[in-house]
Amino acid sequence: MGEFKPAMKESDLAEGSMASVEVDGVRVLLSRIGGGVFAVSGTCTHEEADLGLGFMIEERVVCPLHLSQFDLRTGEVLSPPAVLGLKRFNVKIHEGLVLVEL
Ligand code: FES
Repeated sequence: MGEFKPAMKESDLAEGSMASVEVDGVRVLLSRIGGGVFAVSGTCTHEEADLGLGFMIEERVVCPLHLSQFDLRTGEVLSPPAVLGLKRFNVKIHEGLVLVEL
């Protein structure tokens, strides 16, 4: 069990959007999909590109470098060249803040 750390204001994360934040030195990609808030690693498992510079298509993030796709809810890799999924973090909302378990 890790510790929940504040990542951003919940109200700044609109439905259908994602945000790259750094929490305790860890790059985390937050998203809000279907009303739920999700957090995965913000670093591509292929060549460490910043996924926050990529783009979102429905529930997927597309890597800006070689276009691998990952499911923002689970971190699962959906298309190559990446073969490893993204780490997924537990999330909770408390007093208007999104907290991420590191
Ligand atoms: S760095 Fe992301 S697909 Fe290559």
